[in-house]
Amino acid sequence: MAFKEYRLGSAMVGGSLGLSMIITIFLPSFDLRSAVSTKVALEKQLSAGFDVGFGYADPLLLGINRPITVVLEADPKTGAKFDPPVTAYVYQSGVPMPPNVRHPNDLGKGVQDLSEGLGQIGGVSGSNHSVGQKEGVVFTIGLGEFDGEEVSYIENATATRGWVPEATLAAAGDKNTFKISQGKTEFVVQGCWWCHTLLPEQTQDWQVFGAPPYLGDFNGENPTAFGSDRKAPDLLHVGTRNSSREWMLLHFFNPRLVQVNSIMPRFDYLWGEKDAQGNVIDYDKWRAEYLEYASGKRVYPPEVPDYAPDSEIRALIDWVLSLK
Ligand code: HEC
Repeated sequence: MAFKEYRLGSAMVGGSLGLSMIITIFLPSFDLRSAVSTKVALEKQLSAGFDVGFGYADPLLLGINRPITVVLEADPKTGAKFDPPVTAYVYQSGVPMPPNVRHPNDLGKGVQDLSEGLGQIGGVSGSNHSVGQKEGVVFTIGLGEFDGEEVSYIENATATRGWVPEATLAAAGDKNTFKISQGKTEFVVQGCWWCHTLLPEQTQDWQVFGAPPYLGDFNGENPTAFGSDRKAPDLLHVGTRNSSREWMLLHFFNPRLVQVNSIMPRFDYLWGEKDAQGNVIDYDKWRAEYLEYASGKRVYPPEVPDYAPDSEIRALIDWVLSLK
């Protein structure tokens, strides 16, 4: 007998281990980080910041220490009018720097060169970037040329244009301020990914949910929020299909107000305790009136309260509408 099966078995295990080692070492590999960042990737990471999930700067996910996206109609320093308006990403004191400002070599060829050269991001990454800059930084996205091609790059507008966080926020005003980073965290925290994906696939999805992303769209995204299972529409381009803040307001308060048979849960609690006017929101009364409406005893549904500027729902809608 002499343990024939045993020998055969160990030869097979050894052989397959060896083969898989050879495949791993010798087959041509592709370093994901060498993908060149697209403009979408720069917009995503500058608006979301270092980490939109758990992070030491915001351990309880309250939306603190987050970058803030603003749209500027005029230069915050000189007052010169912009046409079209310019989007800027404000990192106040203590806000951790975005991933590729910390690691510019992950931006990819061309984008790294321009971001470090014209964009002057080197000055930022040299400092203590995990807790952010003491004075804060404002970024924009520049457009330059590399090897005869147009390339978008990260610009440190604090160095190139003298923009500082507080003056930039003041120049934008609340109307042009978007809490996209906090909103993306809400997508993670509220479990939206249990039903929604952020990844149209290369099938008939194209026609309904828009084009699938490019590889370079993911540079510097942390975490990538693909979603897990599709029980609901893909949201990657939802802001292009539906840009109505008013519709979002109704739909998040109670999806059945706009889609009668929707299985999406209510997210009314994201309004918090008080509405935009500072009045306490009476959820019990609202729901009682809604049930009367749903059972046909009332002609109109009760009105959805306006949200307070610092409510969680404001951040969530800011993010949803940024998905273009
Ligand atoms: C239980 C599954 C479920 C969860 C959880 C869920 N949704 Fe939905 N959502 C749906 C379904 C189903 C629809 C389509 C019907 C409708 O409009 O209500 C939808 C529609 C939407 C739409 C409109 C999409 C379009 O194509 O116009 C948006 C925006 C949206 N959801 C955002 C969210 C966000 C943000 C969260 C997390 C806070 C969330 N949803 C959580 C199921 C869900």
